[in-house]
Order: sequence, then structure tokens, then C-alpha cells
Amino acid sequence: MNKAIILAGGQGKRMKAPIPKPMFRVLGEPMLEWVLGACEEAGLEKICVITGYEAEQIKAYLGDRCETAFQAERLGTGHAVMQAIPFLEADAEGNTLVLCGDAPFIDCATIRDSLERHIQEENAVTVITANVAQPFGYGRILRTDSGIAGIVEEKDATEEQRRITEINSGCYWFRTADLIELLGLIKNDNAQKEYYLTDTIAIALKTGRRAGAFCSANPDVVLGANDRKGLLALNDAARMAVLNRHMENGVGFVCTDGIIIERGVKIGAGTEILPNTILRGTTEIGENCVIGPNCVIENTAIGDNVELNTVQSYDSRIDAGVKMGPFVHIRPDSHICSGAKIGDFVEIKNTEIGEDTMVAHLAYLGDSDIGRKVNIGCGCVTVNFDGIRKSRCEIGDHAFVGCNNNLIAPVRLGKYSYTAAGATITADVPDYALAIDRGTLHIKEGYTLRKFAKSPKKDDSK
Ligand code: UD1
Ligand code: CA
Repeated sequence: MNKAIILAGGQGKRMKAPIPKPMFRVLGEPMLEWVLGACEEAGLEKICVITGYEAEQIKAYLGDRCETAFQAERLGTGHAVMQAIPFLEADAEGNTLVLCGDAPFIDCATIRDSLERHIQEENAVTVITANVAQPFGYGRILRTDSGIAGIVEEKDATEEQRRITEINSGCYWFRTADLIELLGLIKNDNAQKEYYLTDTIAIALKTGRRAGAFCSANPDVVLGANDRKGLLALNDAARMAVLNRHMENGVGFVCTDGIIIERGVKIGAGTEILPNTILRGTTEIGENCVIGPNCVIENTAIGDNVELNTVQSYDSRIDAGVKMGPFVHIRPDSHICSGAKIGDFVEIKNTEIGEDTMVAHLAYLGDSDIGRKVNIGCGCVTVNFDGIRKSRCEIGDHAFVGCNNNLIAPVRLGKYSYTAAGATITADVPDYALAIDRGTLHIKEGYTLRKFAKSPKKDDSK
């Protein structure tokens, strides 16, 4: 069996926050998620995450997705892997990939290609390396004519070794049985008094095993974050990689300022994304839409030819041809059917808006089922909460709801029904009926003249 160990015990002191470093996010997902996802995509059958600092945060995130092992003290990457010895011994056939939880760009192709090389060369260990312009901080790959000779850490390296640009990605394939034996041979006689996993290379060679290096063509696979600046650099790299992929698929950007698109988002050709737009989670957008400026769209399915300007939408569906904005808030479990128009300052929650229905301005529609070709007047509110329970409003096709109406749920307006402006609707309105709720309007001629004759207004007395 081929399996993986992900090292995630470190604190990341320079981040200056009580969060384990692998839980810091790149494009909205923890770095650990990126690494885990690559392992799952590569089909590795079992995964064990080594926790340490703030272990509960990582365990809560993982749930029962994979195994974990706890490293009580941070004594180095070799010591971290030692905590997984029971995981290794449970099935010592096959190979184990060791990865760092703070280097998110390792990908499925690199995992598979390096395994192929590892097996082909019959290595006990194969380290994934890359040539980088800025090797500072990374372990350097030492080579002789016969191949890799070992890895030296920045802090232990000589001046000459520090000039080496081939670096250790922190990812390695081990034959599982050899890894168990090599872990028993690591010592902590180095600058940091740590058990370095990197020492397994030289130890393997010294004990007559084969060791190899797989140099990745994509130097990004090694990029890690040790501080906030490093994390920003990873976010920048990931963000542009995603935007480039969408541009190749025919998505337009006139300016990428403030545009953040998470990697799971799908966008159809011909759609244009305008500045300050954040697309998250499982959002899918059709063709020829204009999304932005200033939109936040999360887990929302959007059809073709949709225009959203300054809209926030969460866990909802917006069908083809809908136009919305500016300043619209679509809260979870809403469905806006095709051709609907939602204008400024409208909030919609857990509501279906039928085809070609208009909600032009200043409305709150919650827990409602609204039919086709309905007109919702300005200032209409569904009064869906009585302080104890939420109830639904139903509005039939072609209904016309007047301005400033309160619909006291549960209530039903029939098809083609009308409600007069200012009505508070407390009872069902039948199909084709008019509901009017209006006191007599009294007009008292000369009222203010009489009032001010008794007690003059202050400014008038001057
Ligand atoms: C390590 C490598 C270095 C490599 C670099 C790549 C060693 C000794 N050095 O250095 O050659 O170029 O990664 O990024 O392995 N961790 C634990 N427990 C520990 C120590 C670390 O779980 O006791 C975890 C950290 O959370 C992190 C990973 O192991 O996810 C790497 O540790 P880190 O301290 O960042 O190693 P580097 O100094 O970057
Ligand atoms: Ca690191």
C-alpha cells in the first residue's frame, strides 16, 4: 500500500497567532487542505497527519477524514515522523510519502511522477527537489558524481554549500520498511539539536541503501510560508495561477484588482469579472455573465447571461438572465429564477423568486415562495418572524404587491391579486382580489394657521 504522512505539528512562531501554521489559508483554504487534496487526488490510500501545536484545531478540521498522530514536543521533522511509527508498521509493504503541511503547492502529477522514479530506481528514499533562485532557508542537496549524497540545512551549511541552488522540497518517498529502520538511526547532533528527517538520505547511503532525487520541473511545488510575507506571496502566486487558468478558458478581466477566485470555482467562457469580486467555494458561473464590481459570491450556482453589480450571495441559485444590484444580499437557500430583476437594497433569504418577477428596490423577502411575473413594490417586507417561530409567505403568479406592504406570515396572496400601497396583510387574499387596508384620510384646512396663532413658531417671532 502507498500512503502519506503530512507534518503539521509546527507552530509558525513568526505568524504571531495561536493557529498551527498549516491551518493558515491560501486562497481561502488551509495550506493543509491543499496538501491533503493532492494526496487524495494521487490516490494514496491512507494518510496520517502529525499534529503538535494547537492539535485540536487540526483534528477538528480533519474530522474522520484521515488518521492523526500527536507529537508532544517539537524535536524536529525526523522526530515528527517517528510519532507515526504505528501507522507505518500497520502496513509496511509499499511506500510512504512524507510531506510538509506548510508547502501547499505539491501536486498530484509531482507525487505520481516521483513515485514512478522511486520505484524504477529501487530507492529506499527519493527526495523531491527543485532549483530555485532564492535557496535561503531551505535544505541544500549535496551531490557527488554517483548521485545525491545528502541534505544540509541552512544553519549547518558551509559558505560553499549555501551557494547550492538545488533545494529540498521537504517531500520524500520512502520504502515504508526502510523508513521505519532509518528513523531509528537519526541523531540530533546538529546546530538546532533536532532530529532531522533530512539525515535519512545520508544514513540510507551509509547503510548500503539506494537514495535518489527527483528534481521537479515546477519550482513552485517547494514554496512554503514561514511568515506573513511568505503567506502573502503564496496567495499572490495561487491567485494569479487561478486567474490565468480562467483566462485560458475565455473568462475576461480588464483589471485584476481585488479579484480573488478560489480554486474550486467554475466560470463559463465569455463571462467578465470586474474588480473587487471574491468568488468562493463551489460557486459555478455560466457563460456571458458580468459579475462585479464589488461582489462576494459563495457556493452559488449562476446561469448564463447573469449580471450582478455589488451583490453578496451565499448558498443559493441564480438562474439565467437575472439582473441584480446594486447593493443586494442573497442569503442561503434562495432561488432566483430566470429573467428576474432584483434592484437596489433588497435582501432575500430562503426564498424562491419566480421567473421574470421584479423586486425593484428596498425590500426584505424571507421564507417566501413568490411566483412568476410578480411585482413587489418598494419597501415591501415579509414579516416572517413573530419572535417565536418563522412562517412562510406565498405570492401567486402575476400578483402586484403595493409599496410599503407588510405581509404578516403565514399568509397567501392569490394569483393576479392586488394589494394597495401601505397595506398590512394579515389574511389570505384570493386570486384576482384587491386587498386594501386604509383608514379615512382627513384633511383639515387652515390647521397650522390656527396652531401658530396660539403659540407662534420661534423663528417667526424674531
Ligand atoms: C524543512 C527541511 C528543509 C526543507 C524545508 C522545505 C528538515 C530538517 N528540513 O525545513 O530541508 O528545505 O523543510 O520546506 O526537515 N514539523 C513538525 N514537528 C517538528 C518540526 C516540524 O511537525 O518537530 C512540521 C512543521 O509543521 C512543518 C514541517 O514539519 O509543516 C517542516 O518543518 P519546518 O520547521 O518548517 O522545517 P524547515 O526549517 O522549513
Ligand atoms: Ca518550513
